[in-house]
Amino acid sequence: MTDPQNKPVTLQTLQRYKTEGRKFTCLTAYDASFSRAMNQAGIDTILVGDSLGMVIQGHASTLPVQPQDIAYHTACVARTNQRSLLIADMPFLSYAAEQDAISTARLLMQAGAQVIKLEGGAWLAPLVSVLRKNGVPCCVHLGLTPQSVNVFGGYKVQGRDEQSAEQLTEAVKILEAAGTDLFVLECIPRPLAKALTGMTRVPVIGIGAGPETDGQVLVVYDMLGLHDGKPARFVKNFLTDGRSVVQALAAFADAVKNGTFPAAEHCFD
Ligand code: KIV
Repeated sequence: MTDPQNKPVTLQTLQRYKTEGRKFTCLTAYDASFSRAMNQAGIDTILVGDSLGMVIQGHASTLPVQPQDIAYHTACVARTNQRSLLIADMPFLSYAAEQDAISTARLLMQAGAQVIKLEGGAWLAPLVSVLRKNGVPCCVHLGLTPQSVNVFGGYKVQGRDEQSAEQLTEAVKILEAAGTDLFVLECIPRPLAKALTGMTRVPVIGIGAGPETDGQVLVVYDMLGLHDGKPARFVKNFLTDGRSVVQALAAFADAVKNGTFPAAEHCFD
C-alpha cells in the first residue's frame, strides 16, 4: 500500500510525476466511504465521473446526468477527501454554451471539485482558455467520449484510422496550447496513446489506452468486480485473493505504479 500520510496531490504533483516518469492513479468515487478508502489506499486522484448515471442511477448511458447530480456526489466525496486531487465531470450538454459552462463549473468547484473534466476535441480550446482564466483547471477527455455514444454508434475504440488518429494528435496540440491541465484518453490503440502521451507536457490518464499513459483510471465498481455482464477488455478485478476493499484499491495502485497494470490483454492494438 502506498503511504497514505503523503501531502495532498495537486496538479503540480502530477506534473512532477510525469517529468520523473512516475505513474499515478485515478479511480472514480461517488460517496464519502469510498473517498476515505481511496485516501487510505493512496489513490492519487479521484474522479466523480458521470459514469454515476450508469453505476449509481441505473441509466443505460451517461446522458441523463444533471449538473446537480455531479455536485451532490462531489460534495459527498469532498467531505472525507484529504489527499486525492478531486476531478468532477461536466455532464452532457452542460457546457455547450460558454455561460452554461461557467455556471456548471461554478457549481462543481463550489461543491469541492479541484479540476473539471470536459469531453470533446480541439473545439473545446476556447472554453478551456476562458475557464482557466477564471481559476478553473481543466481535464479534457478524448477518444471514446461516452457522451457522444450516439454519434459513434456504440462504445467503440477510436483513433484506429489515419484521419481520426491525426484529429486526436491535432486536438492534443491545440488543447495543450489553450492551457489544458490534464488529458483522459479512453479506448484508443496503445501505440497512438503512447505517441500522444510522449508529445505533450500535460499529464495523461488512460483507460483502455495501454500502459504508456502517465496515469490510469478505472470505474471503481468495475475494478471491484461489480459490473453488469461481461466487463470491458480494459477492466481488471482487483478484489481477489481474499483482499479487503481497501487492499484491492491499494493493489490497483501498486499494479499501476509498478507497471503490471494494464497488461497486454487489457489493451487495444
Ligand atoms: O465518467 C467516468 O467515470 C469517466 C471515466 C471512465 C474516465 O469518464
